[in-house]
Amino acid sequence: MYGNTFNIELPLFRDERGSLVPIELESTLPFRVERLYYIFGCQTNQTRGAHAHKSLKQCFICLVGECVLELDNGNYIETYRLNQPAQGRIIEGLFWRNLHSFSEDCILLVLADQPYDAKDYIHDYEAFLAATRLA
Ligand code: TYD
Repeated sequence: MYGNTFNIELPLFRDERGSLVPIELESTLPFRVERLYYIFGCQTNQTRGAHAHKSLKQCFICLVGECVLELDNGNYIETYRLNQPAQGRIIEGLFWRNLHSFSEDCILLVLADQPYDAKDYIHDYEAFLAATRLA
């Protein structure tokens, strides 16, 4: 599947007591959520990612702090600053991705439509470029 990415506004309930964002696993996102993980305690000078997924769909939500998501579709690279806990960045299909410029307090939540599967990863950049040409 060729890569597709877009922003999604999550339902936000804000009142004088604070804010609440609910995510229904079946219906809030454009895919059914099968797995979630979160990333925290990252060094500002470290980069994560450096891989693509063959078919995984994901939603990145920065719950605390900020980081930068870099998405390369084989033709050009776009960067997104993630720092809105009521906003998700949806990524579907082929993108070479890097995450960097983490704030010390960054907590990044990732929701995915498939269980963890090492076979869905592409770790070699040339193999990623070849896959985008076939897509
Ligand atoms: P890794 O893919 O290197 O993280 P990132 O995409 O941020 O660079 O994952 C780090 C380790 O965690 C690796 O050994 C695989 C494991 N892992 C799981 O077991 N389940 C998961 O859902 C994920 C995303 C990673």
